[in-house]
Amino acid sequence: MRNISIGEQNQKGHCAQRQFNAWLSEAELASTLDKVKGFVMPPACTDALVDVANLMRVILTLNVPGDVVECGVWRGGTAFLMAELLKQAGVRDRKVWLFDSFEGMPPVEEIDGAYAIKEANDPESFLSPHKSRAPLEEVQRTASELGLANHTEFVKGWFNETLPVARDRVGEIALLHIDCDWYSSVRCCLDNLYDRVAEGGFVFLDDYYHYDACTLAAHEFLAERRLPYRIESIEGRTWGGC
Ligand SMILES: C[S@@+](CC[C@H](N)C(=O)[O-])C[C@H]1O[C@@H](n2cnc3c(N)ncnc32)[C@H](O)[C@@H]1O
Repeated sequence: MRNISIGEQNQKGHCAQRQFNAWLSEAELASTLDKVKGFVMPPACTDALVDVANLMRVILTLNVPGDVVECGVWRGGTAFLMAELLKQAGVRDRKVWLFDSFEGMPPVEEIDGAYAIKEANDPESFLSPHKSRAPLEEVQRTASELGLANHTEFVKGWFNETLPVARDRVGEIALLHIDCDWYSSVRCCLDNLYDRVAEGGFVFLDDYYHYDACTLAAHEFLAERRLPYRIESIEGRTWGGC
């Protein structure tokens, strides 16, 4: 069985924390988090980062096969956290794939809901067209400065164009981190990459508790595939509680 991690996380079928009782705390991860936190889109949710870090430890400890994929990267903070943990573990045969337009969010749609539409149209919001844009060259430079160039691979473009082409190159996926907010983006990631997630691997939906359309995309996908997975948060909190 695979594991689906939606919201903060949970496995396709099983909550990771139940299987893995050596969950590290924020304090234990502090120096690693400090290194990448400045590149996470504000407001950076530390609990979510702690969960992602622990999921990385689960896949490495339990030898879940495959690479790590993030869809929706912005300046690279969460992807760098995952790459840094590969580096710290001395892992050379896996990498983190960073998929993004590197041109900001696509246009918001009615299905994304009133809250998302308000955010997209607020020039102060990080999901506005201007503030959601992080150029590829800038993010690649940061990867090099953090010593993570050998642990990362970048794919620039809109998901509906890049994922169908790149998924064969990606191969098996141990951890799929989906952080792209809008309905069509989340759906595109699930449609193209879910089948690549390894037995025992994870899908982490960052926005499950935050944007209605992300929740909708996840439930529609699971229902269409007749996948009876329970959606849980490992930490038992919603995003709004961070
Ligand atoms: C919330 S930000 C990601 C934050 C990031 N994970 C972090 O750790 O800070 C969402 C990102 O998704 C990207 N994105 C959303 N929909 C996309 C699509 N359909 N194709 C390509 N990129 C997309 C945007 O460009 C933006 O960088």
